[in-house]
Amino acid sequence: MPLLTIENLPGPPVPVPTGTTLLAALHRAGHDWPHACGARGRCTTCRVQVLAGAENLTPPTASELRYQALGRLLPTERLTCQARLPAGEVLARVPEAAKLPHVAYLG
Ligand code: FES
Repeated sequence: MPLLTIENLPGPPVPVPTGTTLLAALHRAGHDWPHACGARGRCTTCRVQVLAGAENLTPPTASELRYQALGRLLPTERLTCQARLPAGEVLARVPEAAKLPHVAYLG
């Protein structure tokens, strides 16, 4: 199964079932991950910084392209409620702007 590793979160790599968003997979694995708009692509709180394997993710959605054009989503970032991982692996990290105050990040 495709795997998502978040380098600054404790725990093993997160399996991403076919057709499942990264956000859904993170939640299923028990991670507390922000999603202020309810996973509708209308905020950017669910962002993740992709360090490797970006080519394995589904192409950016219209929401992601809009936020990139507005400068609110960096080219290296994806919205976890939009991106899926059909195959392969991705290494990523929680960017500073997306950290929750009560979660113990590793860096
Ligand atoms: S949860 Fe709002 S854009 Fe992903």
